[in-house]
Amino acid sequence: MRHIIVMNAKGGCGKSTIATNLASYYAVRGHKVALADFDPQRSSLDWAELRPGNRPEVTALAAFEDGLRHLPRDSEYVVIDAPARSHGKELTELLRRAETVLVPVMPSDIDMRATRHFLAELLSSGKVERKQAKIGLVGNRIRENTVIFDELDLFLRKQAVPYVATLREAQNYIRAYSRGLGVFELPEYLAWPDWEQWGPLTDWLNSRASQP
Ligand SMILES: Nc1ncnc2c1ncn2[C@@H]1O[C@H](COP(=O)(O)OP(=O)(O)OP(=O)(O)O)[C@@H](O)[C@H]1O
Ligand SMILES: [Mg+2]
Repeated sequence: MRHIIVMNAKGGCGKSTIATNLASYYAVRGHKVALADFDPQRSSLDWAELRPGNRPEVTALAAFEDGLRHLPRDSEYVVIDAPARSHGKELTELLRRAETVLVPVMPSDIDMRATRHFLAELLSSGKVERKQAKIGLVGNRIRENTVIFDELDLFLRKQAVPYVATLREAQNYIRAYSRGLGVFELPEYLAWPDWEQWGPLTDWLNSRASQP
C-alpha cells in the first residue's frame, strides 16, 4: 500500500487541490484509492461528496476524526490531505503515516519563507533523517513569464529535496473540484496542458526515487 501525504504548514498552497487530483488520477487508472482528510475543514471530504457515482470510486475518510481506522484493507493508494499549520507532535504523527511527502509551494514571498521553515522542520524529523520518507516539492498556481515564478523556480531548485513539478494556475482546478473530479477527468481539449504538467509528478511518484 502506497501512502502519499500532501502537506505544508502554509495554508492555501494547494494541498487539497493536489490531494483530490492525485486520488482521481489513481482511481481513473483502475486503482483502489482512499483519500484521507486530516483537516476538519473537510475540503477533500466535500470533494468526494461532489463526486458523481459513475466515476471511478475514491473512498473518502474523515481521518481528522478517527485516523485511518476505516481504511479499506485492499486500498492500493492512500492519499492524505494534511491540515495547514501542522508542526511539532502533529507533524510527526502525520509523517508516521506516509513514505512520500508532496509539498506544494505558491509563487509568493510569504509562501516561500513559510516553506523554508516548514522544510527545515520536515528535514530534521527522525523519519526523514532515517530516509524512511521521501519529499518532493511542487510549484503550484504558476504563471509563467512572471518575476515571482522565476523566484519560486530558483527557490525550489536550491532546496535539498527534489523539485518534481510545476502546476499552472488554471480554472480547470476550480472547475474540477466543484464537480468532484480531477483535471484528468476533464475533456482533453481543455485540460491537456495540465495533463502534461502532471506528467513529471506522477512519473516521480511511480518511480523508486519517491519511495524509501
Ligand atoms: N493550480 C491552481 N489553479 C487555480 N486555483 C488553484 C490551484 N491550486 C489551488 N487553487 C485554489 O486555491 C485555493 C487554495 O487551494 P487549496 O484549498 O487546495 O489549498 P490548501 O493548501 O488545501 O488550503 P488549506 O491550507 O486551507 O487546507 C482554492 O480556492 C483552490 O481552488
Ligand atoms: Mg486543504
